Amino acid sequence: MSAVTGQKVRWGILATGGMAARFTADLVDLPDAEVVAVASRTEASAKAFAERFGIPRAYGGWETLARDEDVDVVYVATPHSAHRTAAGLCLEAGRNVLCEKPFTLNAREAAELVALAREKDVFLMEAMWMYCNPLVRRLKKLVEDGAIGEVRSLQADFGLAGPFPPAHRLRDPAQGGGALLDLGVYPVSFAQLLLGEPSDVAARAVLSEEGVDLQTGALLSYDSGALASVHCSITGGTPHSASVTGSEGRIDVPNGFFFPDRFVLHRDGRDPQEFRADPADGPRESLRHEAEEVMRALRAGETESPLVPLDGTLAVMRTLDAIRDRVGVRYPGERDARGERGERGEAAEPVVTPA
Ligand SMILES: NC(=O)c1ccc[n+]([C@@H]2O[C@H](COP(=O)([O-])OP(=O)(O)OC[C@H]3O[C@@H](n4cnc5c(N)ncnc54)[C@H](OP(=O)(O)O)[C@@H]3O)[C@@H](O)[C@H]2O)c1
Repeated sequence: MSAVTGQKVRWGILATGGMAARFTADLVDLPDAEVVAVASRTEASAKAFAERFGIPRAYGGWETLARDEDVDVVYVATPHSAHRTAAGLCLEAGRNVLCEKPFTLNAREAAELVALAREKDVFLMEAMWMYCNPLVRRLKKLVEDGAIGEVRSLQADFGLAGPFPPAHRLRDPAQGGGALLDLGVYPVSFAQLLLGEPSDVAARAVLSEEGVDLQTGALLSYDSGALASVHCSITGGTPHSASVTGSEGRIDVPNGFFFPDRFVLHRDGRDPQEFRADPADGPRESLRHEAEEVMRALRAGETESPLVPLDGTLAVMRTLDAIRDRVGVRYPGERDARGERGERGEAAEPVVTPA
């Protein structure tokens, strides 16, 4: 891949929903970013979005955006059921891609996208903004430097109260609905960041009538002897907290562990030490850090971000697959299409009857 050399990195936005609007609003504020095109399934929606954000080109169809040579990088913000197709189109055409989380529906689709990006020698990154958050990076460094000794356990939760009506994408199996893929991806990615890929997975879930998980709890075990307990829900608002316990101390992230404004380091025999976000880093919900990381990588000619490595994304997708195997959640058409882990899970029955 040749490095992006223009004064501004030229972004294309694929889809016009909630996240597309949130990310575009943050991009518009970045001096070295320029949003030059938007694509939607319908021209009317693309035009309305373009007008709202002052975007010069609006396409009714994803192919035209994928082929637009004047776009440096495409941000894919469809529901996850369409990430494989949408991101694949862009990669095939040689576009760099930032793809919303969860990266894909399953590990097989994720592996296909990663293989395609590597074959085409273009940049690809999961929009796991948590990994780009400055305070999360600080926490990771502290753990790596041994501030709490050897990590023994971790817990993290992300539950929303809803209620989400049956028509909402979070309840729709065809759109990859359920708590795990949308919300559980954060606690699982947090565990991946600090512990790597688990060697074994146990899980329980409560499923909806539509067959998506309303809430899921999973216990991840690691060869190191560590355990991680992760929970997600679309039927109950949880604290969104995390804690990591080691042989010599503990770190608590009291709320919003995926976009923290503070965390506390407890070390045996010492006063607790609080770490706070730097006000210069902007609002905690800002997506600018991931956008800045993409632009830094593109200018450096990198095809992958060291902050959000593709192998980590693949490991997270394998873990999500394993959890779904244990609780019996399958998406339409997936039974035949799943990779190794999916096939292993085909014998699995839902462990909890539908709510
Ligand atoms: N990073 C974060 O903090 C965060 C937060 C929320 C969600 N997300 C992720 O972002 C993605 C989008 O979520 P969202 O909340 O923006 O959803 P959304 O508001 O429903 O928007 C999704 C957009 O995708 C297009 N779309 C809808 N159904 C589709 C389908 N069946 N096939 C293809 N395209 C379809 C539509 O745009 P057009 O009409 O223009 O085609 C729609 O507006 C999801 O993967 C979600 O997990 C990330």
